[in-house]
Amino acid sequence: MTPNEKNIVRATWQKIVPIADTAVDLFYDKLFEIDPELRPLFENVDMGAQKKKLLQALAMTVAQLDALEVLAPQLAELGRRHAAYGVQNEHYDSVGAALWWTLEQGLGDDWNTETAQAWTAAYTLVAETMKSAANTDGNRPSNAQRTAA
Ligand code: HEM
Repeated sequence: MTPNEKNIVRATWQKIVPIADTAVDLFYDKLFEIDPELRPLFENVDMGAQKKKLLQALAMTVAQLDALEVLAPQLAELGRRHAAYGVQNEHYDSVGAALWWTLEQGLGDDWNTETAQAWTAAYTLVAETMKSAANTDGNRPSNAQRTAA
């Protein structure tokens, strides 16, 4: 990410913070609308707690954009846990689309080509770091294990 992209993400995140509870509700509604097949993954999940955890993860990411050496291992660990939850690579595209839509709603006039590009760069960084850690041998249950479970 360029310094300008990081600045845009930090500045626009500050505008999301006061409306974060509403934004995260909209995000999950949109996510399940885009990809209803994801619902079962959250069947036994406390969504109230989950929404807080997602916001914390995003806040951590935004706060550490200049400390990739700290951020990347945390995202890798998060990605490995997601493999265990049954999350597949393509699910990250649905999450990215729901995030994009939510930011567009939340930021209103501040959502423009430059903002969209900056957030795409940030989300790509997060998703690629999580996916590559999740896809490392040994982290994803094999199909055989999944069928057996
Ligand atoms: C790329 C950005 C993502 C971020 C920042 C993120 C963040 C988180 C966090 C912080 C948790 C709490 C549990 C933990 O820390 O391990 C969590 C749980 C979860 N996430 Fe994600 N996540 C992302 C992508 C996804 C995707 C693509 C899916 C696919 C649907 C997903 C599905 C889940 C599920 C099902 C849980 C609940 C696990 C459980 O409690 O059983 N996440 N996520």
